Amino acid sequence: MKTAVVYYSQSGNTGYVAKMIAEKIGADLIPLEPENAYPDKGFKKFFWGGKSAVMGDEPALKPVRFDPAEYEQIVFGTPVWAGTFAPPLRTFGGLWRDALRDKKLAFFACMSGAGAGKATAKFAKFLGVDALRTTLDLVDPKNKPDPANDEKIAAFCDALK
Ligand SMILES: Cc1cc2nc3c(=O)[nH]c(=O)nc-3n(C[C@H](O)[C@H](O)[C@H](O)COP(=O)(O)O)c2cc1C
Repeated sequence: MKTAVVYYSQSGNTGYVAKMIAEKIGADLIPLEPENAYPDKGFKKFFWGGKSAVMGDEPALKPVRFDPAEYEQIVFGTPVWAGTFAPPLRTFGGLWRDALRDKKLAFFACMSGAGAGKATAKFAKFLGVDALRTTLDLVDPKNKPDPANDEKIAAFCDALK
């Protein structure tokens, strides 16, 4: 089954997992990048990113090559921002919502503490789907390596096959 891993990662944790998944199942990687990068340091990082997530912003993205007809399955990856998914996924999901409806959809979220469950439910609701095929939550997997994460990622990949 041809799969795309569509993800946003500000500080590398989500990207780290996206790459592992793509390698394990042979998927295409589609990183999303806002035209104007979010601040990535200090107070501004949490203030502007959090505000943008809570306000439901759909920031303009750098162009990506994505043809939904090429894929049977899409895996979305995001950091949790203020208890929801990061705004670049909102832009992408808003653009492609109709084309995504007949795809197999999966989702993973990276967080530092809590909120992945809420982010998952909010993303499913945003896309207008009852449930995502399979989901995965991880705590800062690049910054805090843990063999338990590798097992969770492997199980997620098995469920994607
Ligand atoms: C703006 C902002 C808001 C965040 N909000 C949450 C949150 O609500 N819950 C949480 O557990 N972590 C939160 N985090 C931490 C990130 O979700 C976490 O560090 C994640 O692993 C980062 O992924 P990345 O390295 O791919 O960007 C937040 C980080 C930022 C920058």
